[in-house]
Amino acid sequence: MPSDTPFTIVIEPQGWSFEASGGPSLVESARRAGIVLPTSCRNGTCRACLCRVLRGQARHLIEWPGLSAEEKREGCILPCVATPETALHIEAPKASRAPPPAPPAALGP
Ligand code: FES
Repeated sequence: MPSDTPFTIVIEPQGWSFEASGGPSLVESARRAGIVLPTSCRNGTCRACLCRVLRGQARHLIEWPGLSAEEKREGCILPCVATPETALHIEAPKASRAPPPAPPAALGP
């Protein structure tokens, strides 16, 4: 059952953080906070978003995420299809800050 309790998610090594509940994926919660985790398929198959949990617990929203048993043991997750169960520290060195929104387009004469 998804939790509505927000957890603090820390991105390492940048040290950025955002709040996430047990509903939306970590990628989506990060995006809402202006943090971009690398993605492509967003359905747990391409592995572009693969990162590692350094501290805390996450769970996958799909039954068969594209991870080997060894990767799971090492704490790897696919944040496009994972959600937090506790506060997390995740290693995602390719995460970036979202660019600021574009200014409104000027109206013609
Ligand atoms: S974006 Fe493809 S597995 Fe996450």
